[in-house]
Amino acid sequence: MAHIHLKKHLKYINSFIQSPRSFGTLMPSSPALCNAMVKSVNWNERSLLVAELGAGDGVLTHHILRAMPMDARLSAYEINPDFFHELDDIKDSRLVVRKISAEILDQPYRIIFSCLPFLSLPLRISMKIIKATLQILKQTQGTFILFQYTQRMEKVLSRYFEWERKLVIKNFPPAYVYVCKPKS
Ligand SMILES: C[S@@+](CC[C@H](N)C(=O)[O-])C[C@H]1O[C@@H](n2cnc3c(N)ncnc32)[C@H](O)[C@@H]1O
Repeated sequence: MAHIHLKKHLKYINSFIQSPRSFGTLMPSSPALCNAMVKSVNWNERSLLVAELGAGDGVLTHHILRAMPMDARLSAYEINPDFFHELDDIKDSRLVVRKISAEILDQPYRIIFSCLPFLSLPLRISMKIIKATLQILKQTQGTFILFQYTQRMEKVLSRYFEWERKLVIKNFPPAYVYVCKPKS
């Protein structure tokens, strides 16, 4: 078990060294952080379309799938080929792995989770993803749930969303979870 955890951590460290700007972290999200994200959703709605942006090795994907009703569908976006194998190994008919950039949001998602390092990605890409998220969630009256390691995204978020923040200490580093609704 410890061997598997060490292997996972080494993979994250390796990915961070190879592309620090797009990877953005040295450690997978902790169970406490994943739980805080997943518990922010009302899972009682019918036929929910859900997206996860920056799925990595699927650490949050597993939590989402556990919480999701049977009639919901999850699109997990990831661009790093090092993680495709792990995502493809998740056998769940509700999951579609999208091996494309999260800039291409092409379904009426009602819930959009993001693990993306918006502050280190190129600004043009971050803004494209945030604006695409906003457009979709305006149509579906949906919710955007993201985590960040600092509060530096708040200015941008406030331009487009009403949001609430909670701090998750049990993560390395501690992280803020933002639950956002498009401004009307
Ligand atoms: C901080 S890691 C999160 C990994 C995992 N979900 C977690 O919570 O530990 C960010 C992930 O976003 C992916 N990523 C970066 N830019 C992306 C983009 N434009 N579209 C989709 N995924 C992207 C990276 O390859 C990386 O796997």
